[in-house]
Amino acid sequence: METPYGLAEPVIGKLANREIVFMSRHGRNHATPPHLVNYRANIWAIHELGVRKVLATAAVGSLSSNFQLGELVLLDQFLDFTKNRPQTFYEGGLKGVLHVDMTEPYCSSARMVILEASEQLGLSVKNGACYACTEGPRFETPAEIRMFQRLGADLVGMTSVPEVVLARELGMCYASIGMVTNEAAGIATHPLSHAEVMESMKELEVKVAQLVQATFKLWTPDQNCLCALGNREVGKF
Ligand code: HPA
Repeated sequence: METPYGLAEPVIGKLANREIVFMSRHGRNHATPPHLVNYRANIWAIHELGVRKVLATAAVGSLSSNFQLGELVLLDQFLDFTKNRPQTFYEGGLKGVLHVDMTEPYCSSARMVILEASEQLGLSVKNGACYACTEGPRFETPAEIRMFQRLGADLVGMTSVPEVVLARELGMCYASIGMVTNEAAGIATHPLSHAEVMESMKELEVKVAQLVQATFKLWTPDQNCLCALGNREVGKF
């Protein structure tokens, strides 16, 4: 799909008897690294297709013994350590200026629906973790991980920002299921590798697919939260 920000490749299909759009942020075969994902094109495209609720997944490293390898965790806050990513659709001039509210970056009513789905499945899902987003694509140094811990982060990853911000700018609900794939650098007693992360993702794949499907069965199109009002001050898009 053409967007003002470049091409995006949404896949339209059906899940739980609902029409849905699937967007693979890293592309087919994981060919796009996190710092080169075209977040604006992806979010713009799904919004154009009529999407108003986004359920994201994200591989995360754990900074805390509260979040163990193989656990699923719903993000509720983020710390942004990205360096070089366009973060907004509102670039001034005719596009307007928006200082979007991030008091509750991840939709809490969406999180409630995911939790309800997890209970139906008898699947353990933790609600609430602070995600530090790094620029990547390298992993962190142990010193950076210690800094993130002191700042209050629980998990670390490379993709949730600016995705969650852009979704809010267009008034979409956005929730993210963190999949704990590894202990963060310096907590793990071995060097980190992409293979380790991919292997853990593979093990979590079935659980996450069940959770996504059960969530879509319960999710209704109406937005009974404040996310849709995220851009009310300018409301351009
Ligand atoms: N660091 C950054 N991103 C990640 C990690 C990590 O340890 N694990 C999965 N994504």
